[in-house]
Amino acid sequence: GNVVGVYHGTDPSAKRLLTGSHYDTVRNGGKYDGRLGIFVPMACVRELHRQGRRLPYGFEVVGFSEEEGQRYKAVFLGSGALTGTFNTAWLGQKDVDGISMREAMEHAGLCPDDISKLKRDASKYLGFVEVHIEQGPVLNALDLPLGVVTSINGSVRFAGLIQGMASHAGTTPMGTRRDAAAAAAELTLFVEQRGAAVPDLVATVGMLEVPNGSTNVVPGRCKFSLDIRATTNSVRDACATDIQNELARICERRGLSYTLEETMRAAAAPSAPDWQNRWEAAVQSLGLPGFQMPSGAGHDAMKLHEIMPQAMLFMRGLNAGISHNPLEAITNDDTDLCVRAFQHLLDQLATELS
Ligand code: GLV
Ligand code: MN
Ligand code: MN
Repeated sequence: GNVVGVYHGTDPSAKRLLTGSHYDTVRNGGKYDGRLGIFVPMACVRELHRQGRRLPYGFEVVGFSEEEGQRYKAVFLGSGALTGTFNTAWLGQKDVDGISMREAMEHAGLCPDDISKLKRDASKYLGFVEVHIEQGPVLNALDLPLGVVTSINGSVRFAGLIQGMASHAGTTPMGTRRDAAAAAAELTLFVEQRGAAVPDLVATVGMLEVPNGSTNVVPGRCKFSLDIRATTNSVRDACATDIQNELARICERRGLSYTLEETMRAAAAPSAPDWQNRWEAAVQSLGLPGFQMPSGAGHDAMKLHEIMPQAMLFMRGLNAGISHNPLEAITNDDTDLCVRAFQHLLDQLATELS
């Protein structure tokens, strides 16, 4: 489901610059998460075309499908295909309506058996750059339109299920209940405290569900999700271990059982210094400070990081940078600066290569 455009360079044998971002969104998300990183390079291509100009290198712009991992327990489907890490076992996964990923892809006119052909040969690329909204409050608070990413936080996600005993809410004494939702609530509070205890660590229970629950039934099952991120893999993993241990303790004490399935793991991705420098120079060429910051959110760049150098440019979001929310907002002026910064990077690269 990726959508790919190539603005060919003057030398067809030259290594290409790869860019892009995702076009899927979270449920009830905003308009710019992902899409900005597709439209900004497209605007650059339009301007190059208008000037009748070709770069010495090819410029490949990808609209990645399925970065967010909403419908299936899998993320980075599109960018993972480019790195050759699309897990074909995912094709058998079913969504909440029982539709497998393979069926969904075929319904969309895609050919799942061709996914392996999308793998890119990293030796044919200069690197990967990605433009994205910041999705946080930092640039907005500093009144800065652009920021240069130093590293993308590592993350891990789990899908959990706590099993207790469904029973009558009116007759089951409080002392003999095996309430799966109360255990999940206890775990959620632990997750919040554990995440808050360390700087640059965040931990979230984003989904909680009592399947087929009723007002008058003690919850027999509770499903939950867990998302943990940190600037280093070790801080992330220490948090995950503590949460797993706490889950075991809570379930033991309450007479419950549980399963916890890891659904995603992405290593922290530090920016390649030379690409980060190019973004800094591009931002500074606009008379702005080359402000550096880490990325708390995950991005397709984390995936491309596995096979080639990468660096990202952030653009400020309004409304305190809120994202994964329809209140997500940007300005035309900031977007114009972003396009100009990207044009500068393209030109600088052309100069370096010639
Ligand atoms: C993607 O938006 C993520 O960071 O979860
Ligand atoms: Mn997102
Ligand atoms: Mn995004």
